[in-house]
Amino acid sequence: MNAIELTQVNKSFNGIKAADNLSFQVHEGEIFGLLGPNGAGKSTTVRMITGCLHADSGSIQVFGHSPQKEIKTVRKLISMVPQETNIYNDLSAYDNMLHHAALYCDDLSNVEENIKVQLQKMELWERRKDKAGNYSGGMKRRLVLARGLLHNPQIVLFDEPTLGVDVQVRHLLWDQIKEQQKEGRSFIISTNDMTEAQQLCDRITIIDHGKEIATGTPEELKATLKRDIVQITTSQPVDNITFLETGFPVENISRPDPLTLRFEIANAEAIIADLLHSLNQFSGVQNLHIKRPSLDDVFLHYTGRELRE
Ligand SMILES: Nc1ncnc2c1ncn2[C@@H]1O[C@H](COP(=O)(O)OP(=O)(O)OP(=O)(O)O)[C@@H](O)[C@H]1O
Ligand SMILES: [Mg+2]
Repeated sequence: MNAIELTQVNKSFNGIKAADNLSFQVHEGEIFGLLGPNGAGKSTTVRMITGCLHADSGSIQVFGHSPQKEIKTVRKLISMVPQETNIYNDLSAYDNMLHHAALYCDDLSNVEENIKVQLQKMELWERRKDKAGNYSGGMKRRLVLARGLLHNPQIVLFDEPTLGVDVQVRHLLWDQIKEQQKEGRSFIISTNDMTEAQQLCDRITIIDHGKEIATGTPEELKATLKRDIVQITTSQPVDNITFLETGFPVENISRPDPLTLRFEIANAEAIIADLLHSLNQFSGVQNLHIKRPSLDDVFLHYTGRELRE
């Protein structure tokens, strides 16, 4: 059974589509990424899965249960770590954890030990007595993840896990998410950061204006572009590039400067030796750079826009 299934889900706010016939499945035990620019509908989608928001139409299932009709069951299965960190600033980190446990944990017999374990994992145990409001942004993100794991959820929805945190905290959070995955948990990560999607997620759905653009592993998505980006710098300007246009299946040739040729080609490795040989008749090659398409290139390819525009 899939951990989560969305089938043709729609949600509009005053005519703005935040989910437009959106369908995807999250397999049990995987880290699934919702990747899209600001306003794409990521938070809306995550909130519909938790049952906080109701879809206008379509079906959402969490291990076969409807968030709309079986909210109590779904709340036990999932934990939501929201984009806006919602902690009690006047309470200590420890008391924030205790308060959450009182609300969400059925069994409080081991609560103190559980809180200790989660705070230690996030490297917050030494600072447990500090007011949460005095925590740095990165510490608050770690606290909300620690809190979200307290009731031992099977699925964690983490909205923009590392927005505004430094590199160290980013890696700590990624490592913790991967550790949790090893224990069998499934994750939905929403992000507009392609490095995060690439490094953390097993599969990704790219969304824009609430619509699914492409779904697959990061490698599958990049492979859909079917071409590499090649940049060659020569010692002399190469004026006549007919040999390139007619001899090789290149596309989108450009010249960033007089000594540099840039083009796209499928499977660059297979033709690069022949191409360099041809080019050497005109000029020596100073530098060769082959770039595989990134998730940014995938987004650009499908939408005509940069992910961060
Ligand atoms: N409660 C609401 N009322 C009105 N419009 C809303 C509401 N929630 C979301 N929207 C709109 O729906 C669209 C999608 O918003 P959403 O917050 O889901 O995007 P997002 O992908 O999470 O963006 P971000 O990366 O900025 O967090 C936006 O146009 C937003 O203004
Ligand atoms: Mg959001």
